[in-house]
Amino acid sequence: MHYITVHDKTFQPFLSEMEIQGAVRKIGKSLNQDYKGKQPLFIGVLNGAFMFCSDLLKTVDIPCEITFVRLSSYDGMESTGEVRSIINLQEDIAGRDIILVEDIVDSGLTMQKALTYFETLNPKSVAIASLLVKPDCLKCEIDIKYCGFEIPEKFVVGYGLDYNGHGRNFKEIYQLRQE
Ligand code: IMP
Repeated sequence: MHYITVHDKTFQPFLSEMEIQGAVRKIGKSLNQDYKGKQPLFIGVLNGAFMFCSDLLKTVDIPCEITFVRLSSYDGMESTGEVRSIINLQEDIAGRDIILVEDIVDSGLTMQKALTYFETLNPKSVAIASLLVKPDCLKCEIDIKYCGFEIPEKFVVGYGLDYNGHGRNFKEIYQLRQE
């Protein structure tokens, strides 16, 4: 097994590049069908979703735009449950079809807070596309319309996901090693 070390922790391979790219293509295909004739605005959530956004947009062949925002509720390996702020949305999203692109939904609090905020700006619709979802960790009801993988309650890194800032650069996803 090809283990990696990030800071003080060891991680084991979890999702291969091929599995990830397959899931990304599948989501892209659904979006192309569902948003045919529309011009959605993708809103990528930084930093974690940068890689997913980049690969996802390459599979989208309908007219669309992309922008990025920053919001966070995480500190190290724990969700603080408190979203700090939503920074950098300059686009007018009133009347637009919005697709929020997230790397992972854990407690769901980040996305719930983001949804509440975006809804005050009167978009036509808002859907969430998240590469990963940890269903056992959800602390609120949230509709993840486009999901790549449902994964167990274990910390993961790679493909944009970090552990204290490191590990985002791997093209695969690694899971905290079984002790
Ligand atoms: P939530 O608000 O608890 O759903 O947390 C969502 C955010 O926490 C994501 O955007 C990630 O930045 C971070 N996060 C949650 N789980 C993990 C993980 O397993 N690895 C890395 N980051 C994570």
